[in-house]
Amino acid sequence: MAAINGKGKKTAEEPSTDDWSFVEALLASRAARTVYLWGPPGTGKSFTACTSGLEGREVFSVSLTPETPAAELRGLWMPKGDRFVWQDGVFVEAMRRGARIVINEISHASYDVLAILHPVLESRETARLTLPDLQTVSPAEGFQVVCTDNEPPDQLPAALRDRFDCVLRVGRPHPKALERLSEDFRQSALRTFDLEEDRAISVRGWLAVQEIEKELGREAAFRAVFGVERGEQLLRASALGHA
Ligand SMILES: Nc1ncnc2c1ncn2[C@@H]1O[C@H](COP(=O)(O)OP(=O)(O)OP(=O)(O)O)[C@@H](O)[C@H]1O
Ligand SMILES: [Mg+2]
Repeated sequence: MAAINGKGKKTAEEPSTDDWSFVEALLASRAARTVYLWGPPGTGKSFTACTSGLEGREVFSVSLTPETPAAELRGLWMPKGDRFVWQDGVFVEAMRRGARIVINEISHASYDVLAILHPVLESRETARLTLPDLQTVSPAEGFQVVCTDNEPPDQLPAALRDRFDCVLRVGRPHPKALERLSEDFRQSALRTFDLEEDRAISVRGWLAVQEIEKELGREAAFRAVFGVERGEQLLRASALGHA
């Protein structure tokens, strides 16, 4: 894991599962108001962001696609009887309640979504949002934004990147996720994370193999989860202790 400051400079290096305890300590800190957590798929970023270091805070979660409407975060007018009433979106609700909001796949944020995030991520003092019903909302004490993605921070729009207090790369699966795997799958999973990043296999994949194996056997499980070719390679390698 490498910790990078908000301006994109590396301040530490070296992936290690132990580094998750640093991520967790940071999430629990009131000082870390805006956090960007990134790295290969299926290591536990979203899980940790939603469950760790809440310190009594509520947690809200949203996953973005380029089509996610800004109204999902900000809110919208909803018909009620013969009139319209304002309904807060998930981001505004989290602001009001001093909750943590986890925004997954932040690199997919549209310009409309960014326009909502920018003023709030900006700084504790100036964070506020004026809604279409003309209420101005400032985040309550404890409000925290944790964004996750597979993309490095330099793939984010510069103005968004600049608004994160902390940028953390996690390159290895969370130890608690690995604990759910049997010893041989755990070793196989860890070995794939020692390969190039795009060949690392998500813990999700190994959990799926483990489940399917119970009913259909190991060969079928590898083939079903990883495909015929890679499944056979991995099966052979795992038999040799090299997967
Ligand atoms: N701390 C944990 N305890 C138990 N299981 C975990 C833990 N962290 C992750 N897992 C398991 O690993 C799976 C993948 O975790 P998660 O969805 O958080 O990955 P991710 O890093 O966000 O992946 P992606 O980059 O694809 O979004 C989870 O569905 C869960 O089953
Ligand atoms: Mg995720």
